[in-house]
Amino acid sequence: MKLALHGGEPVRTRPWVSKFIGGEELGQEERERVLRVLEKKRIFRYLPEGLDESETAQLEKEYARFVGTRYALAVNSGTSALICALVAAGIGPGDEVLIPAYTWVATAGAVVSIGAVPVLCEIDESLTIDPEDMEKRITPYTKAVIVVHMRGMSCDMDRIMAVARAHDLRVIEDVAQANGGSYKGRRLGSFGDVGCFSLQQSKVITTGEGGMVVTDSEEIWQRAVIYHDGAMYQFRFTERKVPAFAGQNYRLTELQAALSLGQIEKMPELIKATRAVKRRALEVLAGQTGIYFAPAFGSERDLGISLVFYTETAEQAEFLEKAISAEGIPAQRIYNPELNDQHVYVNWEFLMNKRDPWGGSFPWDQPFYKGSVDYNADSCPRTLDILSRAVQIRLNHLITDEDLADLKQAVAKTVSAMPTS
Ligand SMILES: Cc1ncc(COP(=O)(O)O)c(C=O)c1O
Repeated sequence: MKLALHGGEPVRTRPWVSKFIGGEELGQEERERVLRVLEKKRIFRYLPEGLDESETAQLEKEYARFVGTRYALAVNSGTSALICALVAAGIGPGDEVLIPAYTWVATAGAVVSIGAVPVLCEIDESLTIDPEDMEKRITPYTKAVIVVHMRGMSCDMDRIMAVARAHDLRVIEDVAQANGGSYKGRRLGSFGDVGCFSLQQSKVITTGEGGMVVTDSEEIWQRAVIYHDGAMYQFRFTERKVPAFAGQNYRLTELQAALSLGQIEKMPELIKATRAVKRRALEVLAGQTGIYFAPAFGSERDLGISLVFYTETAEQAEFLEKAISAEGIPAQRIYNPELNDQHVYVNWEFLMNKRDPWGGSFPWDQPFYKGSVDYNADSCPRTLDILSRAVQIRLNHLITDEDLADLKQAVAKTVSAMPTS
C-alpha cells in the first residue's frame, strides 16, 4: 500500500484525539462551581470571614486526601509550586540540585531562580531519571534531586529514595505530567519530602493555570505557605513552627480553585480510563515488529496518557514521525534536532550558556557556588540517544477501538516501509 507520505491514501482523515484530558471534560459541574463563586462575590481567598470554607482551602483538603499527604498548598502554577517546594525544603544559593535532562524547562528554571545550580542526569527508557546515573552526579554540594514523572510515567521511587537516603538528599517530586499516577499502590507526590503539581491546561486535570504543593512535613508546609505569600501566612497557622522570611505572591484565585474542585472529582474515573486506553493500545501494537516498548510501559508505573515506542535507529524514528503523521495520526519524535522543544536539555538556551537576565552568569559565577558544572550537548548523550529513537503519539481517555484500529494500521503500514537498521 502506498504511503500517504508518498502521495497514497492516508489511513485516517478524521482528526486524531485532543491532547486534553480534564480539559475535555470541563462542563456543568465546573460551570456551577464557578458561578457559585461569582454569586458569592468572593474571588480572593484570604478574606477574613470564612477562611476555612474558601474554595481554595477545600481544594487543598481534597488534594491532600487524594494524594495521601498531611498537607497541600494551592499555588498559581506548577513552576511556582517547584519554587515554593525548593525554598520550603531549605534549598538555596549555591546548592546543586539534580534534575533529569528530559523535563519541561521550568524544572531547571525553578532551580536557577533560587540561586541553586541544576545538574543534569540521564534518563532511561522509562523516560524518567536513571537512579544509577543520578548517584554518579552527586558532589559535596548536592542537596536535592527533583525527580520528574514524565508523560505519566512514574520514576523508580524505591531506587531513588535509596540513593537519596544514602546521600542525605532532599527529594522533590515534579508530578506536573503525572497527576493521579501511582507507584506500588501509593500516589505520586507522597514519596519525597515534597511533591509539586501543575493544573495548566495540558495536564491531567486543569484550571487553566494553577499548581499544588504537597508534603507530610509541617515545617516544609509552613515554609511553603510563607513563601507563597509573605503576609497571609499569619492567618494560616495556629502555631508557627518556623521563623518568618520574605515571601512572594503565588496565590490561586477562588475561581480557579472552584474549577479545580470540579476537576478533581472527575480524576478517579479519568485515570481509570487512561490506564485502560493504554493497555488496549499496547495490546493492539503487541505483535508489531520493528518497534519496541520499555518494560515499564503499561505497568502500574504508567498513567497511560501517552504512547511512546522506540526504534533501533534515529533515522527510523525520523521516518516514522513523518510517515505516521502523514497517515493522519500526529506522531512526534521526542528529540528532533530541528525542533526547539523545551523538554530536551540541549534546547534550554539559558542553561547551555549559563546566562542570567542581567547579562551575567548568576548563580554559576557567584562566590557562594563552590562547585563547577558544564553543560553541553554531550552532558547526557544517552538521553539524546533514547529520545531521538522515541516516537510519541498522544492518547486521551476518549480513544475508541476504531481509533486504535487506525493506529494499528498506520503503524503497520509505515513500519514495513521504514529504513532498515
Ligand atoms: C514536568 C513539568 N514541570 C513543571 C511544569 C510547570 O508547570 P506550569 O506550566 O504550571 O508552571 C510543567 C508544565 O508544563 C511540566 O511539564
